[in-house]
Amino acid sequence: MSTALVILAAGKGTRMNSDLPKVLHPIAQAPMLAHAMRTGAALEPERLVVVAGHGADLVAKAAQQINDRAEVVLQEDQLGTAHAVDMAREALAGFDGDVVVLYGDTPFLQPDTLERMIAARKTHDLVILGFEAPDPARYGRLVMDGDTLEKIVEFKDASDAERAITFCNSGLMACDAKTLFDLIAQVGNQNASEEYYLTDVVELARARDLSVTAVSCDEDQTMGVNSRADLVNADAVFQARARAELLEDGVTLMAPDTVYLAIDTVIGRDAVIEPNVVFGPDVTVESGATIRAFSHLEGCHVSRGAVVGPYARLRPGAELAEHTRVGNFVEIKNAVISEGAKVNHLSYIGDATVGTNTNIGAGTITCNYDGVMKHQTTIGARVFIGSNTMLVAPVSIGNDAMTATGSVITRDVEPEALALARTPQENKLGRARKLFDLLKAKKARRNKEAE
Ligand code: UD1
Ligand code: MG
Repeated sequence: MSTALVILAAGKGTRMNSDLPKVLHPIAQAPMLAHAMRTGAALEPERLVVVAGHGADLVAKAAQQINDRAEVVLQEDQLGTAHAVDMAREALAGFDGDVVVLYGDTPFLQPDTLERMIAARKTHDLVILGFEAPDPARYGRLVMDGDTLEKIVEFKDASDAERAITFCNSGLMACDAKTLFDLIAQVGNQNASEEYYLTDVVELARARDLSVTAVSCDEDQTMGVNSRADLVNADAVFQARARAELLEDGVTLMAPDTVYLAIDTVIGRDAVIEPNVVFGPDVTVESGATIRAFSHLEGCHVSRGAVVGPYARLRPGAELAEHTRVGNFVEIKNAVISEGAKVNHLSYIGDATVGTNTNIGAGTITCNYDGVMKHQTTIGARVFIGSNTMLVAPVSIGNDAMTATGSVITRDVEPEALALARTPQENKLGRARKLFDLLKAKKARRNKEAE
């Protein structure tokens, strides 16, 4: 059976107190929406519809960036969750598989929970995801009769007896498209909030004698994010889970609580991550690599046996081959560092390629930017770049060449050549002595005048 995901993301998120739509606030450096979409991807949905409202343009752009198959539909006025799902009706016209509804602001759902809902669909027409809440607060309550879900009552509309129920509605639902849209067409807004409640489809389905049940998951999976404080908690939950998974996968985290991970961080077995390392989006660290303390990585790839840091910064497009070494206070951006090459101290290598076994001396800078455009630096294999060399791009250095310390390289260097580009040194004999005497006399005069 094919599946269509419908992700509700039109709400304003008033309590975020922000200009940014709620679902675009980041957890582990990816919009909340990306977390929901990633979980949903486990069902390999044939269709993916995002219902946007507040900040729809931004939400649409983000949704398409996360998955270019996402179709975004607009809910101009937020008249309730049933109305929101109804916005997908046209987009899904003719689709005859299952619709799974999820919320864009519920980032912790686990893929196997969705799979259990789909499995329950084999024997039931409509499946709701519920959870036991010791403190059910304002959640909708699930009114069960054995395995049958009879109705969902919103907190505002619930009687005292119904409020005493602790089995709650997560908001997730699975149903075949035709039945769901038929039921939604019947939903009215005669309730305490004057909203079109998606939850009403349960009672409507039961009136048609359809079979409705609830699958249950842990409360922490259904945690919604409504405020900045929730966002901080959500990030902490994500980090704790992701660190535990890495440890399980055979990665050494010397001080797990100090390592900050992104939604898509990939780290291989037997890699070592020292304390206080920050991973931005899109980082892969292969098996056996070491990332030393206080390094910051984003958009980069670190191969087997490479050692990075302490205090290194790898920016987007940094590609480190096997057994490379990038040391302290080195920044690498959009550059390939080939096997065995070393950039050990205080350097900036940007828009460059560095050949195998090349050594880049301390303080080397690729001057890649002329104030308007970026230019490329190409350094061959087995090159020795002397300390404090300025490589003024575009420029290339041939294999087995050398640059003298302190050189400003503005022209290409042939293979095996030594490039020497600095002012020759002159030693003026006795001149230091004279200068010292002169300066001391001047200081003495000043002190006397001040008395
Ligand atoms: C909803 C459920 C409630 C459940 C709770 C779980 C209904 C009527 N109630 O209540 O039973 O316990 O979620 O968190 O469904 N949205 C839209 N357009 C709208 C309204 C909402 O896109 O017109 C989106 C929101 O952005 C949000 C989600 O739907 O992502 C849920 O809406 P929200 O207003 O938070 O519903 P609750 O009142 O929490
Ligand atoms: Mg809510």
